[in-house]
Amino acid sequence: MANTYSINGRDYTVVDHYHDVVVVGAGGAGLRATLGMAEQGLRTACVTKVFPTRSHTVAAQGGIAASLQNMGPDSWQWHMYDTVKGSDWLGDTDAMEYLAREAPKAVYELEHYGVPFSRTEEGKIYQRPFGGHMQNYGEGPAVQRTCAAADRTGHAILHTLYGQSIRNNAEFYIEYFGLDLLMSDEGVCEGVVAWNLDDGTIHRFNAKMVVLATGGYGRTYFSATSAHTITGDGNAMVARAGLPLQDMEFVQFHPTGIYGAGCLITEGVRGEGGYLVNSEGERFMERYAPSAKDLASRDVVSRCMTIEIREGRGVGPNKDHIFLHLDHLDPEMLAERLPGISESAHIFAGVDVTKEPIPVLPTVHYNMGGIPTNYWGEVLNPTAEDPNAIAPGLMAVGEAACASVHGANRLGSNSLIDLVVFGRAAAIKAGTIIDRDSAMPTPNLGCFDKIMANFDKIRFADGSTPTADIRLKMQKSMQNNAAVFRTQETLAQGCTEMKAIWGEMNDLKVTDRSLVWNSDLMETLELQNLMANAIPTVVGAEARKESRGAHSREDYKDGAFSGRNDEEWRKHTLAWVNEDGDCRLDYRPVVLDPLTTEEEGGIDLAKIAPKARVY
Ligand code: FUM
Repeated sequence: MANTYSINGRDYTVVDHYHDVVVVGAGGAGLRATLGMAEQGLRTACVTKVFPTRSHTVAAQGGIAASLQNMGPDSWQWHMYDTVKGSDWLGDTDAMEYLAREAPKAVYELEHYGVPFSRTEEGKIYQRPFGGHMQNYGEGPAVQRTCAAADRTGHAILHTLYGQSIRNNAEFYIEYFGLDLLMSDEGVCEGVVAWNLDDGTIHRFNAKMVVLATGGYGRTYFSATSAHTITGDGNAMVARAGLPLQDMEFVQFHPTGIYGAGCLITEGVRGEGGYLVNSEGERFMERYAPSAKDLASRDVVSRCMTIEIREGRGVGPNKDHIFLHLDHLDPEMLAERLPGISESAHIFAGVDVTKEPIPVLPTVHYNMGGIPTNYWGEVLNPTAEDPNAIAPGLMAVGEAACASVHGANRLGSNSLIDLVVFGRAAAIKAGTIIDRDSAMPTPNLGCFDKIMANFDKIRFADGSTPTADIRLKMQKSMQNNAAVFRTQETLAQGCTEMKAIWGEMNDLKVTDRSLVWNSDLMETLELQNLMANAIPTVVGAEARKESRGAHSREDYKDGAFSGRNDEEWRKHTLAWVNEDGDCRLDYRPVVLDPLTTEEEGGIDLAKIAPKARVY
C-alpha cells in the first residue's frame, strides 16, 4: 500500500513490503543466497540496482576454484593450504576450511542447476591452472583446480542462478537503488529502504533478515577492472548504521588489466601458458618466483611488474607497462578456451592475440576487506568482550563481506567460489534462524526519517562542485596514495586528502532534481558510498605498520616482498566511520581454530603455521 511522506515541504510516495528475507544485490553471491532462501520456501525478495544478469559477476572470466580432481591429483586440504598462504596468514581458519571443504559440493550444485561448464574429453568439468594454486601443500607443480566455462564463467553462473531463482518464486525488484538499512533502536536490522529508479517511489522492505550482497568498492580508484556500478553501497550502509568495516586496507591489483582501458585479461591466460615479458624480452617472473613463475599469487606478480617498470624495463614508448604473450599458443585453443579476452584485446588494445602481445598493467580488481562476518554470513558487531558478537537481522556475502576467507590477498578463482559457498551458507543459516511464524517488523520511523533527510538533502544539494569533479579527485588520490607499493608519506597524504575531499562533499551540486531515472542523484549517492569506503581504506593502511599480502609498505619490508610482522599485526582492522568522515580504528583477533581437528579428518595445523611466503 502506498503512503505519502513529507519532508522539507516535499512529498514522496512510500510503499511498504514484507518479506522473510531481503537480499540486496543480484551478483553471484546475492543470487546464490536468494536461490537458497527461496528453495526453502522463505518469502524472499532480491533488490538490485542493475538487471541481475548485468551485475558485475558477469565479467568474471577465468573460473571457480574447487578440488574436483578432474585433471589430476588435488584435495580440499591443498586448496585450504593455498588459501591460507595466499591470505598471508590473515584469513580466518574456520572460514578458509569451510570454503575449501564445501567448494566441490557447491560447484556440483551449480552444474546440476545448469551452468554450462567447459568439458574434458571424458565429459567432466574442465579445470585450468591459476595463480597460487599448487599441489602438495605449495610444493608444486601447479594444480588444475579452476573450473571454467571458457573465459565467461561468471556470465554462465549468473544466468543460471537468475533462472533458478525465478523458478523458485523469488521476487525481484530490479533497478531499485538501496539507500540505507532500517535499524531498530536496539540495533536489530529490520529491513532496507530503496528508491525505485523507474518511477521515483520510495520502498521500505521490512524483513526478518537482510542480506547485503552489494559487491566491492573498486571504483574508489581511477583505474579498476570493476564496472562503474561497483561503489561499495552495502559497506556504506553498514558504516552509516554505526557498524564497523574490516580490513579495508587490503586492495587487490590484478596483474593484467589492459593498459589504458583497465579491462580484465583473465589470469586463465597465464594458466593456459601465456607469460609476461619486459622491454628486454625477458620472462622476468622466473627471476622473482622460480617455482610458480607467472602463476605466483597476484600481489606478488603485480609487485614484480611494478618493479620492472620502475627500474626502466617497462615496454611501450613511455616504458610504463608490460607485455602479455599468447601468440605462441594454439589459435584453436585460444578460440575455444579464451574467446572473450581475445575479443577484449582486439577491441580495447587493437591487438590480434594470435600475433601480438597484449599491453597490460596491474589494475585494481578486488577488495579483500568489507563487512565483517562469520562463515555463515552473519554480520559481526565486535565488542571488547566478544570479538565475534553478531549484529542481529543482518548478513553479508560475496565481495561486500569479509568472512575473512581471503585475508590480505585473494587467490584468483577463489572469488567465484566464495560467492556460491557463502551465499549458500547464508541461506542454510537463515533457514535455521528465521521464525516463519513470527510477526513482520514494522519500520522504525526515526530511522526512516534520517534516511529520507539524507536522500532529500542530496537531491537538493545546491553547492558549486559537480559530483564528477569530487569523484575524480577521490579516485586520483586513492590511485596515487594507496597503490601497489605504499609508504608512510603517501598514506599520510592520502588520509589528509581524503578528509579534505569529505569536507568538499558539503559543496556538492546536483543539477537534476527529478526522481525518475535521475542518474545525477544516483551517482551522487554512490559517491557518498564510495567516500565511506575510501576513508577507512587509507586510514587503515596508514595505521598498519607492516607489509602483508596486497598491503605492501616500502617502509616496512625485508627484501622486496616480506615485512610481515605476525607478532604485532596478525589481526583484523576494524574501522568505524562517522558522519564527519572521522575514522576510529580497533582490532580483532584472527580466528586460528579450524572447524575440524586432524583426528576428525581436518588439516594438520603444522602445515598451515605461518612461514615465509615464497612462490
Ligand atoms: O583473472 C581472472 O579471471 C579473475 C578471476 C578472479 O578474480 O577470481
